[in-house]
Amino acid sequence: MEDLEQLREDLLAAVAAAADPNSLDAVRVDALGRKGRITELMKGLGGLDPDARRAAGQALNAVKTVVSDAIEQRKKALDDADLESRLGAESVDVTLPVRPERQGLLHPVSQTIDEVIAIMGEMGFAVAEGPEIEDDFHNFGALNIPPEHPARQMHDTFYMSAKPDGSRLLLRTHTSSVQIRTMETTEPPIRIIVPGRTYRSDSDMTHTPMFHQVEGLVIDKTSHFGHLKGCLIEFCSAFFEVANVPLRFRPSYFPFTEPSAEVDISCSRQGGTLKLGEGDDWLEIAGCGMVHPNVLKACNIDPDVYQGFAFGIGVERLAMLKYGIPDLRTFFEADIRWLRHYGFLPLEVPTLLRGLVP
Ligand code: DAH
Repeated sequence: MEDLEQLREDLLAAVAAAADPNSLDAVRVDALGRKGRITELMKGLGGLDPDARRAAGQALNAVKTVVSDAIEQRKKALDDADLESRLGAESVDVTLPVRPERQGLLHPVSQTIDEVIAIMGEMGFAVAEGPEIEDDFHNFGALNIPPEHPARQMHDTFYMSAKPDGSRLLLRTHTSSVQIRTMETTEPPIRIIVPGRTYRSDSDMTHTPMFHQVEGLVIDKTSHFGHLKGCLIEFCSAFFEVANVPLRFRPSYFPFTEPSAEVDISCSRQGGTLKLGEGDDWLEIAGCGMVHPNVLKACNIDPDVYQGFAFGIGVERLAMLKYGIPDLRTFFEADIRWLRHYGFLPLEVPTLLRGLVP
């Protein structure tokens, strides 16, 4: 039995010394494998007489149990250590983008709309939306543009085919239709902006059949033209990140506002580059005015109690000015190289606090 003691000590020492799963397995085979040292001794039991066999068998089994328990424990310790070191080495940064090659950029139109929302949101405007397929009333009639009004010709409208009653739906020619939809359903005070797609049958250097506008509408009891001016001046200086942007409010005509104005931003075009806020050239960026009493009436709002202002800004125009994009038509060519050049990282949401552009 003395060599059993020795065998036990030897094997336990070998188990403890095994530094990795492979050498531990070698120890296991050496002890318990088909030709292992314990296995061989088990085979020898057959030659003993019954009493001696029982005693030797018990002793041998005890050694076998101790050794296999030790192997089991050691294996677990080695596996744990292995996992620990892998976890340490293979750290995963869950904030990394899934596609490291930076695919998927925001189109400048989306970026510009997000910037407008960030600025106007800070001023207290809520975002409203409306359908792109509109009826005559919301796109024209309620906006004080009756049938045969010359302003209809200016809009180059896309019409759907006529319904049995002769009426035709259309693709909205401006986001002003959402002024009507909002006033129909909302009690003043109203303070909304409406970013969205608009459509006109027009295509050349400076026009595309689909383009984007941001409409603004404020209705309450006291807002006046001074507020309208302040609002647009504030917007432009935040958007273009210029402290002083000279703006010009040029008298104009829109059926749905009275008085009406077009807004120009001062710029210089010297040396082929466009610079904002300086020089003696002007670039038109918006239409605006005080909401016409007829428009309020069409929405069942009493013009003797309520008043307000509205504006419409061209989104592509804003983007071209701010990001130096020279050609409007490239916006809609879906050229991946153009987007890689002019696109924006999608996870960088514009805010006034952190800056509009990453
Ligand atoms: N709807 C006009 C257009 O598409 C733009 C516009 C002008 C909107 C004056 C307004 C406004 O709200 O007050 O040309």
